[in-house]
Amino acid sequence: MKKTFAVVLAAGRGTRMKSPLPKVLHVVGGLPLIAHSVKTALGVAAQDTVLVVPNDHTAIRACLGKKFPRTKIKYAVQKEPLGTGHALSMALLSIKASEGKVLVLNGDMPLIGSQTVKNLLSAFQTSGAVVALLTADAEGPTGFGRIVRDDDNRIRRIVEEKDADEMEKNIAEVNVGIYVFDLAFLKKNLSRLSRQNKQKEYYLTDLIAAACEQNRGVTSCGVTTETEILGVNSQADLQAVNSAFYRAQRSHFMSEGVTCLGNDIFIDADVIIGAGTFLESPCHVKQGSRIGAGVLIKAYSYLDGACVADHCQVGPFAHLRPGTELAEGVKVGNFVEVKKSRVGKGSKINHLSYVGDATIGRHVNIGAGTITCNYDGVHKHQTIIEDGVFVGSDTQFVAPVRIGKGALIGAGTTVTKNVKPCSLVISRVPQRELPLRQKHHKKSSS
Ligand code: UD1
Ligand code: CA
Repeated sequence: MKKTFAVVLAAGRGTRMKSPLPKVLHVVGGLPLIAHSVKTALGVAAQDTVLVVPNDHTAIRACLGKKFPRTKIKYAVQKEPLGTGHALSMALLSIKASEGKVLVLNGDMPLIGSQTVKNLLSAFQTSGAVVALLTADAEGPTGFGRIVRDDDNRIRRIVEEKDADEMEKNIAEVNVGIYVFDLAFLKKNLSRLSRQNKQKEYYLTDLIAAACEQNRGVTSCGVTTETEILGVNSQADLQAVNSAFYRAQRSHFMSEGVTCLGNDIFIDADVIIGAGTFLESPCHVKQGSRIGAGVLIKAYSYLDGACVADHCQVGPFAHLRPGTELAEGVKVGNFVEVKKSRVGKGSKINHLSYVGDATIGRHVNIGAGTITCNYDGVHKHQTIIEDGVFVGSDTQFVAPVRIGKGALIGAGTTVTKNVKPCSLVISRVPQRELPLRQKHHKKSSS
């Protein structure tokens, strides 16, 4: 079988976003738009993905380098945004092969499912056409290119909305913006595109008419779900796409046995949640979080790349930051923040605490208002609390510090030195009681 290349177009100006951030770095479901497209591309063409980027692409490269550290992505620079056809020709300069197929994705359509892309690739394969494109029947097709068919219902060309006459604007079938091309056909025809249109751009969509004129065959394939075609061109689109993304995530996790109580449950991309887990609305489960089975996440909790094992209870109002690892059966209660810390099986941090850079053993009880003082203004230090320790309320651990197994920390203690196993430590200021010479409050006026 011929080799599959993938090209993601991401060099457009994105002026309609009215934001200093490049359009493709705006976030959907915790991931930049461009990462969604690259993920889709990698899903079908593991080794040969070319990304077309603008001149100023440092931020885009940095972002993808972080997200896909082990994947080699090629970058093709489009110095000026002269249109999607021009962008594609920039990508082709780095594809040396002369045979194969090229999947082209717009970089602003994060909801396209991998099944849909696979369907398009197999439509291309079985039809023998030189182009396969994804189309959809849109209710209000504003902004999309329209599919013009002939009397025999064969696709003839695509007309961009800005160039369309009234009749053409009424066509409901639209160009989604995802294509598979025969590589040799592309190499021959891309240089023949012209800029004679309203936007004075090289339209990649004109390749459809070219294929028809040469009788080379054009085939199409429909989308799997309606929301897949939502693209991001404005801030309003971004919001709509995020809503659709999170709705789909909830449906997906519910189908896997997760209970979602309410609609304001925002589960990002790259999250794992086990069956029998219960999420109360509102809550956020950010990118990279892992939640085991039978977990209860109470309302107003924010899990940011945290790992929560089976049967834990979290919240309400808990903030679990990156590097948090809760072992089985841990309880983290209200107004508790945990960062870069491991909490052992069955331990409890039930109220008003900050736990950062700590290792907490099994069956530890952390009292209300406990703070790990992990930062001295320059460095972060570790707090180690061994198994079975009982920490009284309002305790501060001035790190680095280690508390031995089974120790008991009296309420109000500021721990500055290591504590031996099974000892009681207390640093509370002794309470004093003195007689009052006069009443300290005014007589009540009544
Ligand atoms: C494009 C299609 C339209 C389709 C729609 C679907 C063309 C001419 N039109 O229109 O038929 O219905 O997508 O969303 O292709 N880009 C570049 N360089 C450029 C211009 C664009 O890399 O010079 C990139 C953009 O970053 C974007 C993608 O190509 O990711 C699409 O560009 P955009 O300007 O959004 O095209 P649309 O007007 O939406
Ligand atoms: Ca677009």
